[in-house]
Amino acid sequence: MLHPVFLMAALSAVASGRPTADCAKPPAFFLAGDSTTAIDGGWGDGLLATLKSPATGLNIGKSGATTASFRAGGYWSNVTQHVKDNVAKFDTYVTISFGHNDQKDTSGISLAQFKTNLITFANEIKDLGGIPLLTTSLTRRAFPSGQDHNATDSLHDQRLAAIDAAKQTGSTVIDLNAASLAYVNAIGKTAAYTYNYGDGTDTTHLNEHGTVVFGRMVSDLIIRAKPCLESYFVPNETLSNAIWSNQYA
Ligand SMILES: *[C@@H]1O[C@H](CO)[C@@H](O)[C@H](O)[C@H]1NC(C)=O
Ligand SMILES: *[C@@H]1O[C@H](CO)[C@@H](O)[C@H](O)[C@H]1NC(C)=O
Ligand SMILES: *[C@@H]1O[C@H](CO)[C@@H](O)[C@H](O)[C@H]1NC(C)=O
Repeated sequence: MLHPVFLMAALSAVASGRPTADCAKPPAFFLAGDSTTAIDGGWGDGLLATLKSPATGLNIGKSGATTASFRAGGYWSNVTQHVKDNVAKFDTYVTISFGHNDQKDTSGISLAQFKTNLITFANEIKDLGGIPLLTTSLTRRAFPSGQDHNATDSLHDQRLAAIDAAKQTGSTVIDLNAASLAYVNAIGKTAAYTYNYGDGTDTTHLNEHGTVVFGRMVSDLIIRAKPCLESYFVPNETLSNAIWSNQYA
């Protein structure tokens, strides 16, 4: 017998359009983040390319964005508008991935504020009936000299803040930071540099090859977190097997 409090919660979830069961509807993914998510240099389009119709998505990542400027610039309201427009037809997921710019002294954003901003983002998505995926920052591929398998763990604190924000909001963590750091450490500096953007010296952003590899890493992490989503992705076992067995892909 369902306790009345739980029954009420279930009924209000239905009324507000909240997902009542995992994968009751096909997924839509809206990507909120900085340049490491954005079109041309981020993993976002690599993730979207793995989706199988009727699953859909849109990359709203913005180069240079912090958790504050993303909101101030109107990008966040576009994300929330897309959630509002899609929750009736789709299980609507929002990847939230920041840190690369928030962590700079010039951002004026403390680690505590960063975490608060992530919590606010996640709660807003939940209130709209969407599903936040707190996605820890893609690792940088900067290796101290002589340490070709020990990339600098420069987003450690931002990762922990995102994990804590997820815990505090009951959200799912997509731990891209841990996975990408472990992967570039396994394959080593020379291999990791083949994903570098532009002239090959940009160790933060991804070229097209890197977009495919790290986009696949994110889709695999999403499937791991929400196994019922698997049928909405086009698999590439060769690529996934390479990534998760620490082989260069
Ligand atoms: C938000 O979306 C609208 C409509 O697609 C677009 O015109 C506008 O440029 C977007 N705003 C930002 C800040 O990207
Ligand atoms: C990796 O580098 C960190 C400093 O960035 C250092 O503390 C650690 O000992 C290094 N690990 C290995 C295995 O060399
Ligand atoms: C799967 O990934 C491999 C390795 O990156 C790539 O060579 C191949 O073209 C991909 N297959 C498909 C069907 O996309």
